[in-house]
Amino acid sequence: MAAGMSTPASVAVIIPTVRPGRNGPKVAKLVIETIQKALPKGVTLKIIDLAEWKLPVFEGAEVPFTITNSELYSSDISRRWSREISGHQGYIFLVPEYNGSYAGSLKNAVDYLYNEWSKKAAMIVNYGAQPAEALKGGNHFTGVLSQLQMKVPSVLPKVSVSTLDREKTAAGEDLVFYKEEIKSQVQDEIALAWQSMLRSLQLSSVSPASA
Ligand SMILES: Cc1cc2nc3c(=O)[nH]c(=O)nc-3n(C[C@H](O)[C@H](O)[C@H](O)COP(=O)(O)O)c2cc1C
Repeated sequence: MAAGMSTPASVAVIIPTVRPGRNGPKVAKLVIETIQKALPKGVTLKIIDLAEWKLPVFEGAEVPFTITNSELYSSDISRRWSREISGHQGYIFLVPEYNGSYAGSLKNAVDYLYNEWSKKAAMIVNYGAQPAEALKGGNHFTGVLSQLQMKVPSVLPKVSVSTLDREKTAAGEDLVFYKEEIKSQVQDEIALAWQSMLRSLQLSSVSPASA
């Protein structure tokens, strides 16, 4: 499809953590600022914050794989979560490193559903305290998305909290990097993954000049 053609699509940015003082919303802000520079016409972004959803530990009576309509879930929270996730064509999963893998809150949110995610486009942004090359949660979570037959870019952006000025980051709404070049590297990776995700969505980005 030629750049600039309008195709409606909704992409959800999922903030998976729920603890006070979390970095999740700041990582979301960086991702959104980055991809907004290459947002095709008609594509909308929506933040889904699990801290607002307060999903209990999954206790659905039905195996989600067997459910093909949101209204068929027996619990209200499953029906509401299914309606929300069904409304998007793509998902950006922010993946925090918790104990050498991804956070349980994220897996719990995913496990509620199956067909709502299946075969759709996704990308992952992994973040955590260790150096970027040591973070593993994003790779582990790629395996989860493969199980759901989701289309995931091979580029996996990683943000190391060790490259951030923790005090300044904690004091504001943005991730404050010690070095601008590290921020640029991370943004380049996010932009690459986004381009790949747009291809899965069969959309082309609009360059800022032609937007
Ligand atoms: C329970 C817990 C476990 C963590 N384990 C790791 C870890 O194994 N490796 C790592 O690099 N960072 C680890 N961290 C640091 C987090 O990845 C980092 O604080 C990140 O910002 C967490 O996401 P959040 O701020 O959105 O909750 C851990 C943090 C928490 C709260």
